[in-house]
Amino acid sequence: MKIQDSISNEFDAFSKNYTNDMIGVVPYYLELMSCFTKSLPNSFNPKTILDVGCGNGNVTASLLKSFPNAEYTLLDASQEMLNLCAKRFKNSAVSCVKSYFQEFTFKANTYNLIVAGFSLHHCNSEDKKSIFKKIYKALKKEGVFMCSDLMISKNNPAHSSLVEKWHTFVLNTFPDGEKWQWLMDHYTEFDKPDNLDEQLRWLKSAGFSSIETTIHEKYWAHFKAIKN
Ligand SMILES: C[S@@+](CC[C@H](N)C(=O)[O-])C[C@H]1O[C@@H](n2cnc3c(N)ncnc32)[C@H](O)[C@@H]1O
Repeated sequence: MKIQDSISNEFDAFSKNYTNDMIGVVPYYLELMSCFTKSLPNSFNPKTILDVGCGNGNVTASLLKSFPNAEYTLLDASQEMLNLCAKRFKNSAVSCVKSYFQEFTFKANTYNLIVAGFSLHHCNSEDKKSIFKKIYKALKKEGVFMCSDLMISKNNPAHSSLVEKWHTFVLNTFPDGEKWQWLMDHYTEFDKPDNLDEQLRWLKSAGFSSIETTIHEKYWAHFKAIKN
């Protein structure tokens, strides 16, 4: 499998067998997906939800079980992923928007909940900082921002041992090594993860004051940040 020439084309191709591939190549994928519903405040009942980098819609699908009547905006650069979402959610209040995050207008004071599952690691540090600020402004008062992702910078001294463990994990599901080769080509070209502690600082400087984390093996992480 070869990587494509842009993130949108890459995920158009990845969309074919997306969920099974993610379970096989991302440690803790299902655990970190479940955080989007598990870690919400009990009385929370969002009316407007933005899914940043929706992919084939796995985060939205789990939220729909708890919030079937909310209005969802699904944002992604990949048309194939959005086509899957349009089909999957044809009976729900879901609008799909094809745009890069960097070009999307995050309307101020609009959403009760904003989620990002394994999508922001495709943005560099400056873009993440800027998107956190836009997300803060786009949330209504007491709105919640939740994100699951790999959170370690490629410059972190622990990065090479993370990659070693990751290799063992992927070979367990895909023993011939071809998937790992593709994954590492993809990771080199398209993935720009940042350390969790840095991202927590950026969240605070964006305005978030109440932040909680769930962490698996140090770097596979989820955070929930509330706009008070
Ligand atoms: C790994 S998938 C995650 C999908 C889903 N949220 C999940 O948790 O399974 C990342 C998605 O983000 C989208 N994406 C990545 N960078 C993007 C950007 N800068 N603008 C818009 N979409 C982007 C990709 O097209 C892809 O569908």
